[in-house]
Amino acid sequence: MPPSLSRSIAALLLSAAFTGSAALADQPDAQARADATLKEMTAEEKAELLHGKMLLMLAPAKRPEGVFTGAGYIEGVPRLGVPPLVESDASLGVSNLMNQRPGDVATSLPSGLSLAATWNPAALYAGGRMIGSEARAKGVNVMLVGGVNLVRDARGGRNFEYLGEDPLLAGTLVGQQIAGVQSNRMIATIKHFALNNQETGRSSATVNMDEVAMRESDLLAFELGIEKGKPGSVMCAYNRVNTVFACENKFLLSDVLRRDWGYKGFVMSDWGAVHSTEALLAGLDQQSGDQLDKKRYFSTELAREVAAGKIPASAIDTAARRILYAIYANGLEGFDPKARGTIDYDANAKVAEQAAEEGVVLLRNEGGILPLAASARKIVLIGGHGDTGALIGGGSSQVVPVGGIKLKLKGSENAANGFVQRLYGGASPLEGLRAALPGAEVSYLDGSNVAAAAQAAAKADIAIVLAEKFSSEVEDNTDLTLDEGQDALIEAVAAANAKTVVVLETGNPVLMPWREKVPAIVSAWYLGQRGAFALGRILSGAVNPSGRLPVTFPASADQLPNPVLPGSTLPPPSAADKAVYGINTNSPAFDITYPEGADVGYRWYDRKGLVPLYAFGHGLSYTSFAYDGLTIKGGKSITISFRVTNTGKYAGADVPQVYLTLPGQARRLIGWSKPHLKPGETRQVSLTADPRLLANFDSKAQRWVVKPDVAKVEVARAANAPVLTGRIRLTAAKLRP
Ligand code: BGC
Repeated sequence: MPPSLSRSIAALLLSAAFTGSAALADQPDAQARADATLKEMTAEEKAELLHGKMLLMLAPAKRPEGVFTGAGYIEGVPRLGVPPLVESDASLGVSNLMNQRPGDVATSLPSGLSLAATWNPAALYAGGRMIGSEARAKGVNVMLVGGVNLVRDARGGRNFEYLGEDPLLAGTLVGQQIAGVQSNRMIATIKHFALNNQETGRSSATVNMDEVAMRESDLLAFELGIEKGKPGSVMCAYNRVNTVFACENKFLLSDVLRRDWGYKGFVMSDWGAVHSTEALLAGLDQQSGDQLDKKRYFSTELAREVAAGKIPASAIDTAARRILYAIYANGLEGFDPKARGTIDYDANAKVAEQAAEEGVVLLRNEGGILPLAASARKIVLIGGHGDTGALIGGGSSQVVPVGGIKLKLKGSENAANGFVQRLYGGASPLEGLRAALPGAEVSYLDGSNVAAAAQAAAKADIAIVLAEKFSSEVEDNTDLTLDEGQDALIEAVAAANAKTVVVLETGNPVLMPWREKVPAIVSAWYLGQRGAFALGRILSGAVNPSGRLPVTFPASADQLPNPVLPGSTLPPPSAADKAVYGINTNSPAFDITYPEGADVGYRWYDRKGLVPLYAFGHGLSYTSFAYDGLTIKGGKSITISFRVTNTGKYAGADVPQVYLTLPGQARRLIGWSKPHLKPGETRQVSLTADPRLLANFDSKAQRWVVKPDVAKVEVARAANAPVLTGRIRLTAAKLRP
């Protein structure tokens, strides 16, 4: 293996210095311009801004000519230079759901969990900037990026789109992703606000949670993401929160978002998530894709209710002003929906590839079986449709990658609609391996014949089983197992060849009953367009893995806070209620409770003393790192300093993580770093924690309260692997939310 980490990753890490600014979102005169435009607008023009159409659902003849067909369209006010809003999904690239724009492709990033596994804000910024630039060139000015619902259940159908289970990690990363998107003179949309952590019952269930738990977990992820990224819009969620639909939830939309966080942009609904015109008074500004709701609440109904004196006309002004503010704050004026730009797909492919390179997590490497020895001449790759393309998560985020779809399989037996499509595209793992190992003979078997796979493995120097699991919006996974007989396939291959590597291409954590029999395990997530090449280089050793888990891998479903997924035992929605987009508003409401409350993910394992299969933060390297010299300084916040040394033979990046434990509470991540070190090199790391991370939320005082307690501080390799420990007495403080 070359003694240095690939230059591309080093470049990406260096680019971190350029992240963190969403300059356009700071346009100082945006508010004044919004006010001035509003004064010129007629009542009809204002009303137009408050609702959108889903172009895909309109007959082509009814679509505005020359406009990108995507998730949504809102008329502008041409006479005042207010551009229309042209909306597209989403966080992994410009999506092309159900091939709505035949032949249109886009660069596809690896999945959200892969991006989060980079623990590198610069990778998120670069990805956001790239997909935003493609969207802008295709005639889009609102990207429905980024999803930051925390992973609370390892079966969640959309976890692959999101950024993991920790509010600091997810909030920091989504902020960078949003800033990257908005650097293209466009609006990004943080979503789904809030507590849409599972798909089962997503449009009917109520998540019941106390304010403290919410503020310290999911809301904190949004709070940090909004602060750092300054998104022009927020998308409210389908579900109810404490019995009130999120899109008409005054507590969320007015008290928390506006009063406490000072948010100045606009709130758009999720598609089909509006249930009343009064939602406007609770803080919703725009009804998205209004054909999907039962009524045109924010157009026909609104006009009627204003005329009847039930809703004040001033409420329309308030909403329109917020939308105009986001337009000006993000530099959207002058946008021509018919204009198209050019896209440098080759350059963009590199961004996707670099992100994937940093997101692959080496979970296990007994006996240093990886990197593949230069002497491995005969390699057999088995399963996972590894000769076709990379598996792509289903739903609104689904991108048709450059090169097109290579394979389409049935999504699942229960698929709510055509929305759940199991597609493969981009570079195939077989191509990736062959490119990285030109001197080896790499063959492929689909694994459907277990005996044949075992025989081929026995004859090879190395056997690699590509194990896959499809996840999609609308449906949660029914369990944590690798279905389709893959566990048995792995067992048989591992029995035939002691040098077996399992590569997981999954949208979620999975169980590994065969773990002790397999020396090397790699989590590659959904690879995106070029991730297969990144995977090949990691397996070959051209690149040193530096990904760390952004989610806990449970040892069994019993360890989950809800061993049975809430709502999964209820009868499925009737056939008649299987609406497009999987919106089942006629389904009975049911209660979702999350026993972990604020202790999401690794914090639950800590609180319960559970040993997971692989902990949050875990990930191996081909080199080794030592930590020493811990110092902790108190004050308004705390500053933690320590040294990291590369004690191994290879260059590589490490992710030392800092956790804080308050008396009687579970550990919480308060910071991390990603230094890239040459063999023998030492780096001094210094991190200052956000004071909110030292506090608990006090709902009576409506403040973050830091108590003068002695807190434990650990520098760790993973949530359950502390290396250095220190203590510090905190300085009492009360902070506004
Ligand atoms: C999803 C959103 C998406 C919207 C528009 C909904 O089904 O929940 O994430 O942005 O559709 O496609």
